[in-house]
Amino acid sequence: MRDAGLRGEDGISREYGEAMKILVTGGLGFIGSTFVRLLLTERPTWTITNLDAMTYAGNPANLADVAGDSRYHFVHGDIADATAVRTSTSGGVDAIVNFAAETHVDRSILDPEAFLRTDILGVHTLLEAVREQGIARYVQVSTDEVYGDVASGESVETDALRPRSPYSASKAGGDLQVLAYATTFGVPALITRGSNTYGPRQYPEKLIPLFVTNLIDDQPVPVYGDGLQIRDWLHAEDHARGILHVLEHGHVGEIYNIGGGNPRTNLEITQTLIDACGRSMETHVTHVKDRPGHDRRYAISSRKAADLGWEPRIPFADGLAATVQWYQQNEAWWRPLKSGEFRDYYHRQYANR
Ligand code: DAU
Repeated sequence: MRDAGLRGEDGISREYGEAMKILVTGGLGFIGSTFVRLLLTERPTWTITNLDAMTYAGNPANLADVAGDSRYHFVHGDIADATAVRTSTSGGVDAIVNFAAETHVDRSILDPEAFLRTDILGVHTLLEAVREQGIARYVQVSTDEVYGDVASGESVETDALRPRSPYSASKAGGDLQVLAYATTFGVPALITRGSNTYGPRQYPEKLIPLFVTNLIDDQPVPVYGDGLQIRDWLHAEDHARGILHVLEHGHVGEIYNIGGGNPRTNLEITQTLIDACGRSMETHVTHVKDRPGHDRRYAISSRKAADLGWEPRIPFADGLAATVQWYQQNEAWWRPLKSGEFRDYYHRQYANR
């Protein structure tokens, strides 16, 4: 398999470390913006182009603090648009890290089509650019949801994909394109599969930011079904570090699970958030109709990423407490997001449950 620009087994940092040019896609989103900020801080000689379609979840406020940095360039465009991709790679790039995605399971149930465009066609368009331009490395940011519901044990990277929602099926489609391009065309691609991610600047449709912001506003929180579903929680900074580690040290053609190692039921998370916000389960929890096809449990083994030298650093209790505090102290960030488009979505999603 081609590993353009790489000389050793241990990744590109030694070859390109001083002046990497990176295209980050979806860098205005939650995990993408965390990654951009990490690069600017910890890889000060790198330059970053951010291609982002500015959908509802791509928020310029996420990177407002770095917008004037000369190492950072923004291109407004869609990864499924070959012209936009060409524009954003025109100066030549050493690597692409693809965060751009439709990510919310509930939205994929209401409106699956957008997921096919970004999560499959968009990936294809990026892979074509990597192939045509001989870009040295492509990292696909994927998800543990492609493994589907895991009744017991932990998913490993060689497990079959059993996605069960339009969202996870689209992400699995993207992953399969990546693997096919690696095999057929020798594209130097890698995949990361992260677990449920939390932290500052997450769009308030997801469990943790939705519940925290509702609780701050003294509103009830909608728990789907019995609330005993299990997710494995990973701080966004740890997730971003994991992706950077795979970019620099991962082996092309390989997949790396990146899990937090913090399995919790949704009710446990809810109780912690209720306590942190000074509310009570009796008055602030509403059990609503379950999500159709709701996966009961995700669990991944991160052994392979650990063998590569990555492990999460942020203890869950500290990370979650700091995250609640961030939303309490940054109402100016989330309050505008909970109006307009969000209100329509919230009504469609929750009104009849
Ligand atoms: O596992 C990684 C995945 O984590 C990512 O690939 C997805 O992009 C991300 O959205 C997340 O998927 P989930 O469906 O697990 O996340 P969400 O925050 O939507 O829900 C977490 C759990 O909380 C899930 O069991 C559904 C439940 N839930 C969620 C919402 C929004 C509720 O009970 N009530 C809610 O209102």
